[in-house]
Order: sequence, then structure tokens, then C-alpha cells
Amino acid sequence: MKFSFSNPTKIQFGQGQIASINTLIPKEQRVLVLYGGGSIKKNGVYDQVESALDGYTWEAFGGVEPNPTVETLDKAVEQVKASNIDFILAVGGGSVIDGAKYVAASAKYEGEGWDILTGAHTVDDALPIGAILTLPATGSESNGGSVISKKATKQKLPFMSPLVYPKFAVLDPDVIKSLPQRQVVNGLVDAFVHVCEQYLTYPQNAPVQDGYAETLLKTLIALGKEVDNPDDAWRANLMWSANQALNGLIGSGVVHDWATHMIGHELTALYGVDHARSLAIVQPSLLRVQIDTKKDKLAQMGKNVFGLAPSDDIAEKTIDAIESFYQSLSVATTLTEHEGDQQSAIDAIIAQLEKHKMVALGEHQAITPEVSKEILSLAV
Ligand code: NZQ
Ligand code: ZN
Repeated sequence: MKFSFSNPTKIQFGQGQIASINTLIPKEQRVLVLYGGGSIKKNGVYDQVESALDGYTWEAFGGVEPNPTVETLDKAVEQVKASNIDFILAVGGGSVIDGAKYVAASAKYEGEGWDILTGAHTVDDALPIGAILTLPATGSESNGGSVISKKATKQKLPFMSPLVYPKFAVLDPDVIKSLPQRQVVNGLVDAFVHVCEQYLTYPQNAPVQDGYAETLLKTLIALGKEVDNPDDAWRANLMWSANQALNGLIGSGVVHDWATHMIGHELTALYGVDHARSLAIVQPSLLRVQIDTKKDKLAQMGKNVFGLAPSDDIAEKTIDAIESFYQSLSVATTLTEHEGDQQSAIDAIIAQLEKHKMVALGEHQAITPEVSKEILSLAV
């Protein structure tokens, strides 16, 4: 095992922590508050940010959409340049925080911002970012990843850079009281799949990573059972587990998969399926198609996470248990949220994967477009 691990994001966890941002952003910095469609104006978060920024020179850019687009974010980049912004404060869910990462990097690049997503430009500089998380799901508040869409071409692509980790992330569980149930459930499912993408591969004698991954999975399943009766502790535990699921720790030193995400991104780009829901559609079928390479970890998960008794078909039963978990949250696990007939949808997704060079996915790079087609065909 060989790896380098650093998570530089300072976490400010707990009720009332939004007020602490004025100890974390240098007073002389000009701040851009980036936010989404306006939920923060209804739930009091914007007011708290306004109070905390008293004495700063700051301005705002609203309207970052779910699955943030380069078309919208480029307008924020223009504002950053025109107003000589020094610091970007993202207030929202994964979309706003991912958007902030793109704006921070694009503002320091002379070319087309989309080059960052195609890989034509590697981020070599970025403005500092802070995050106030309002939706626990993606882990974006303390990682270096970002997923950006281009409306014009129906593309949705990720980029990673150590330069876009937020300097700090505020995790105040009170701010998620206003979340619609659909988004709470999305958060549970997304975090669960993040752990799976780093854990459900093959045994690598990594008991620390595996043990923490299993604790996160069990926590998310337990939270799922109480999703209709959240209290303060429930909200805090969801926020912390979703953060820990994708802050780099459990993925250090082990191989990852991420095929479910890459196929899911195409479903979102083409048909607007919520990110988490795209994963629930793809993952059970992907696990069934990949059962031979994943059977040992599936058996381990069945035993340690779901408490299944040893049996010849424990891997199959584990996949059934994962699927039942999503279904217990009323999340579909088959291809339902698309336009047109299923075969055309599958063909369109495969064409997109090929266009984006997503042709060797999974921990063994064995998920070719043919295998992705098999997976999607099983998900009908
Ligand atoms: O835009 P507003 O009005 O704020 O409403 C949002 C949005 O409509 C609403 N919302 C957020 N916090 C709220 C709230 N409504 C009421 N009360 C609150 N406290 O929720 C809706 C969805 O928000 P969004 O940010 O899109 O959701 P999420 O956090 O699930 O982010 C999804 C995006 O993150 C990317 C996804 O691909 C998708 O684009 N991902 C980013 C990752 C990363 N950076 O590491 C990893 C993930 O796998 C994922 O791919
Ligand atoms: Zn995700």
C-alpha cells in the first residue's frame, strides 16, 4: 500500500457555526457569495451569512442550478474578474460548491473554462473557497472534486484538483431542516454509493479503510430507517457520515470503482435524473453483471454490514439487500426516468460514454461500452 493523504479543509461542525466564518476569511478579502435557486433566502441561511459577513466587502451571485452548468457559472467568473474578488463563499449543496470550484479555477485561467473539464487545461491556480453546506450528500464541501455540465452539448464531466479543496466547510445540521424529503433521501443514497465505489472492489487487506467504510454504510442504513422522524442527532449524523464518505480517507491506498457514477452522470446529462437517483438505477445491475470480480467484497459486506449468514449465494443476497435499501426509501432501481423507449435511451447513454472516453470503467477497467450496455439492459 502506498498513498499520500491530506485533507486541508477545516470543518466547523454544529449549530450556530455559520457565525464563525468571520474568523476564517481574512477581513481584507473581497468575497463573492455563490448560491443556488434561492432556498437559502427562505430558510434563514442567507440572513446568517449576511450577519457573519458584517464589515466585509462582499457581493452575491445567485442562480447556480442543480447539476451546475458552465453557461451559468461563466457569468459568475465574469463577475469575479470585474469585481476583483479574492474569496468565493459557496452556500448550498454539492451543485453550488462544485460550481464554486469551477469559478475559482476558471477565474485564474485565460482560456475557455470548459477546457478544465475536457482535460485540455490542468488547474494550476485557483481562488480560495469556503463552503457552507446546506445538503449533505456529495462530500464536495471537503474534497477536490467537481462535476460540471454543459447545457449546449448535454455533457456532464468531472475534474479534480488539490487546489480547489475548500479552506473550510461549515456543517450546521440545523440548515437541513428545510430540505424536501426527496433531497434528504438523495443525500443518503449518494453517500451510500460513494462508500460502495471505494469499498466494493476486491479484497486488498485494508482493514482500516474497510472497517470505517462498513461503519459508514451501517450508519446510513440505520439513518434510512428513521428518515421520517429526524431529530437533531439524526441530522448531525447524516451530515457527518456524508462528509466522511467522500473526504478521501476511506479511499486512501485502495483501488476504486466509480463506474456507477460515470454511467449515472450520462443519465443526468441526457434526462435530468437527480444524481443520486441515477446511481440507484445503475448500481444494483452493475453489481449483478460484475458479481464475479466483486464476490469476495460483496460477501464481506453482506456479513459485516447486513448481518447475513454465510451461504453460497451471499453475494447475490447482498446485492438484493442494497437494492431493497434504495427501494425502502422509494428510490427506483430501474430505468424509469428517461424519455422515449428504453432501447433508444440505452443506445444514447452508450454513445455518450463512448464520446466521453468512458470505455474502460471499474476497478479492472473491464467495463467497456458493451458491458455498460449489458448493465443498462438489466436495469429495465
Ligand atoms: O438551489 P437551491 O434553491 O439552494 O435548492 C437546492 C436544489 O434545488 C435544494 N437545497 C439545497 N439545500 C437546501 C435545499 N432546499 C431546501 N433547504 C436546503 N437546506 O436541493 C436541490 C439540490 O441541490 P444540489 O446541490 O444539486 O444537490 P446535491 O448536493 O445532491 O449535489 C448534486 C451535484 O453534485 C455532484 C452531482 O453530480 C450533482 O451535480 N457531485 C459532486 C461530487 C463531488 N464534488 O465530490 C460527488 C458526487 O458524486 C456528485 O457527482
Ligand atoms: Zn455521487
